[in-house]
Amino acid sequence: MSIVISFYFVIVLELIPITTQLSDGSELIIKIPRANLTHVPKNLPLTTTTLDLSQNNISELQTSDVLSLSKLRVLMMSYNRLQYLDIGVFKFNTELEYLDLSHNELRVISCNPTVNFKHLDLSFNAFYALPICKEFGNMSQLKFLGLSGSKVQSFSVHPIAHLNISKVLLVLGDTYGEVEDPESLQHISTGSLHIVFPERREFCFSLDVSVSTAISLELSNIRCGLEDKECSYFLRALSKLRKNLRLSNLTLNNVETTWNSFINILQVVWHTPVKYFSISNMKLQDQVDQRSFNYSGTSLKALSIYQVVSDVFSFPQHYIYDIFSNMNIQSITVSGTPMFHMVCPSQASPFLYLDFKDNLLTDMVFKDCRHLIKLKTLSLQKNKLKKLENIILMSAEMTSLQKLDISQNSLRYGEGESICSWTGSLLVLNLSSNMLTGSVFRCLPPKIEVLDLHNNRIMSIPNDVTLLQALQELNVASNSLTDLPGCGAFSSLSVLVIEHNSVSHPSADFFQSCQKIRSIRAGNNPFRCTCELREFVKNIGQVSEVVEGWPDSYTCDSPESAKGTPLQDFHLSPLSCDTVLLIVTIGATLLVLAIIVAFLCHCFDLSWYLRMMCQWAQTRHRARNIPIEELQRNLQFHAFVSYSGHDSTWVKNELIPNLEKDDIRVCLHERNFIPGKSIVENIIHFIEKSYKSIFVLSPHFIQSEWCHYELYFAHHNLFHEGSDNLILILLEPIPQYSIPSNYHKLKTLMAQRTYLEWPMEKSKHGLFWANLRATINVKLVN
Ligand SMILES: *[C@@H]1O[C@H](CO)[C@@H](O)[C@H](O)[C@H]1NC(C)=O
Ligand SMILES: *[C@@H]1O[C@H](CO)[C@@H](O)[C@H](O)[C@H]1NC(C)=O
Ligand SMILES: *[C@@H]1O[C@H](CO)[C@@H](O)[C@H](O)[C@H]1NC(C)=O
Ligand SMILES: *[C@@H]1O[C@H](CO)[C@@H](O)[C@H](O)[C@H]1NC(C)=O
Ligand SMILES: *[C@@H]1O[C@H](CO)[C@@H](O)[C@H](O)[C@H]1NC(C)=O
Ligand SMILES: *[C@@H]1O[C@H](CO)[C@@H](O)[C@H](O)[C@H]1NC(C)=O
Ligand SMILES: *[C@@H]1O[C@H](CO)[C@@H](O)[C@H](O)[C@H]1NC(C)=O
Repeated sequence: MSIVISFYFVIVLELIPITTQLSDGSELIIKIPRANLTHVPKNLPLTTTTLDLSQNNISELQTSDVLSLSKLRVLMMSYNRLQYLDIGVFKFNTELEYLDLSHNELRVISCNPTVNFKHLDLSFNAFYALPICKEFGNMSQLKFLGLSGSKVQSFSVHPIAHLNISKVLLVLGDTYGEVEDPESLQHISTGSLHIVFPERREFCFSLDVSVSTAISLELSNIRCGLEDKECSYFLRALSKLRKNLRLSNLTLNNVETTWNSFINILQVVWHTPVKYFSISNMKLQDQVDQRSFNYSGTSLKALSIYQVVSDVFSFPQHYIYDIFSNMNIQSITVSGTPMFHMVCPSQASPFLYLDFKDNLLTDMVFKDCRHLIKLKTLSLQKNKLKKLENIILMSAEMTSLQKLDISQNSLRYGEGESICSWTGSLLVLNLSSNMLTGSVFRCLPPKIEVLDLHNNRIMSIPNDVTLLQALQELNVASNSLTDLPGCGAFSSLSVLVIEHNSVSHPSADFFQSCQKIRSIRAGNNPFRCTCELREFVKNIGQVSEVVEGWPDSYTCDSPESAKGTPLQDFHLSPLSCDTVLLIVTIGATLLVLAIIVAFLCHCFDLSWYLRMMCQWAQTRHRARNIPIEELQRNLQFHAFVSYSGHDSTWVKNELIPNLEKDDIRVCLHERNFIPGKSIVENIIHFIEKSYKSIFVLSPHFIQSEWCHYELYFAHHNLFHEGSDNLILILLEPIPQYSIPSNYHKLKTLMAQRTYLEWPMEKSKHGLFWANLRATINVKLVN
């Protein structure tokens, strides 16, 4: 029991690196590569359709491992340690069609019953004889078959002779060649054959590699000419390709040979039906004997050579360059080699396409060369080119050249340069990753449609640029431009890439100037989010479908407060950006205020209130510095009496005698006001010096302005604030309507205060005076 549990635990651990993908419901892909698995995991989902167990340590595959996976279609188990395979283990996996068992240690397979595979890879195993069972003959859908073995015999291939397989990979074991059957591959029927010869062994096989059905042939691990100086076995194998008229593509990988043998290989292939010949990873040794090359009667269209290492380069290489430059074919690619020169063909050349990417070529390449008149495409990408003038001169002679790629060099174009003789035919020019400045715009091919100038040192596009009316695509990304170019000189511009520059406040009229633009990529610039940018952001918002990367790659860089804000979310009020609008708004606001003030003055006598407030405030200021007890001590009167002149008779005859007989000190304006002080000052002064303020209300009172003011100040008497310092005596009834509308104070007071009413009946007068005296009577200090 404990074993089962710990085993389960291990399986769960092993399953951790699983990647599951469920696409369209019917696919379940499980990948557990590089997990040191020693067995197929047990608890896999039953609906698994693809299982990748490559690069593990599995040495056994049993029916029980895959029995439950009835939906399994793809099983990848390359780079494991399987030694034996019974294809019968898959008898319940009826859907299985793809099995990759390459790079195991398989020696034996048994095939009963078999599976109708589409893809079966048994390459890079330890088989001695080819692992082809007679049951393979029933795999009617087989598209790919990977085989390996050291003993290749005709009869072992017979079971699959009638199948049309798209691609066959045959890996020959290390001991291959001892008992060789040269004709053994003749009966395979495949469109594409790839043979991997044993590594590090001189090619001494007589195997006939020409398969009549093959369109494409690839041969890997060719080592020849080193021990057998003539490379005779391999050259003989190549020459047999002559009889295979369907053969179109020949590829050689991992070739180690001498310069002489290399030229011989070229010469043999030259006279085969091969159209596309490609060599990659070649190591060349030794010197070259100068022999003439027979260019006549070739089917070859394109020769491609990638990644060449040469030990010796001490012989005159002119011979090699001559051989290449005079090839009468359409296309040559030489890349990843130490080649540092290429000469001009000695006569008009049929070259349409030359790709010399990633070599050591200098500006002297094709100097004064008049024979590349058909050339349409030339790539000198990633070489050692320095002066653009030389390239311009070179192009001048290439009258058909349409595409030129001179990116990833160290090209410069001088400020005062006068040479500007680009060939007129150029449509696509790649000048990216060089050291060019804005001056390059003074000299560009006039009909150019696509111009790539990204990753240079352009700080501005000068005003006097070449008119490029056909220019559709301009890439100036990763330069130091501070603004978008207008389309004045580029009237057809439809694609602009200007990301990763120093554009901080792009001109807003870009979209007006560039009417034909259908894609602009301007992200990752240090946008300065101020008023100037608003218009641009607004315009961008309107055409956002042509703005690539919007809104994610467009963020503010400055000012500091806005850093990181997406341009899309950057808003400034119209007011803060428009000075005229700002002035107009301030003006209008002031005007409205003035009108309101004037209105208030007019309707509510505001000016008077203001004056009073001012005086009051001064007094208050004076008072503030004196403590409140002191002020109380300063009281001189019990009451300040305010009345209208019309009621003075009553005041003098009734009020004063009645109060003063009880030692109540009364302040009257005509008696106590200090001459020389203003009336308002006097009022304030005496209200302050009085304990209470008595107001004799009558219809006359409300007609007297001064009385009203007195009432106002008494009510606001700061020393008695909040206290009941007002006494209202209603001498005669006052109808509400007769109180003028701006006497709010009085109205409110009348409404809420209990006032003393002067009784008509004499009998009540005694009580009235007693009442009044009681309210006023307080002991004055002085
Ligand atoms: C697999 O085993 C090797 C050596 O035994 C070890 O170095 C490696 O870390 C293991 N890898 C995993 C994924 O367990
Ligand atoms: C693979 O498994 C074997 C035992 O089956 C073990 O000896 C070996 O160390 C394992 N290799 C790795 C790389 O884990
Ligand atoms: C191939 O399939 C046919 C019928 O489907 C069968 O009769 C024949 O025995 C099979 N051949 C082999 C070698 O399995
Ligand atoms: C294979 O192709 C040949 C001709 O291209 C054809 O005659 C033959 O029937 C094909 N065989 C199969 C099994 O499709
Ligand atoms: C042959 O090579 C050419 C050029 O590399 C390629 O376009 C074509 O697809 C190849 N054909 C086959 C059958 O591999
Ligand atoms: C060049 O090759 C062609 C075709 O193989 C042949 O007919 C011709 O004789 C050769 N010329 C020379 C000078 O070897
Ligand atoms: C120009 O060349 C660079 C590589 O150097 C490549 O990435 C870029 O796509 C090319 N531009 C055009 C327009 O083909």
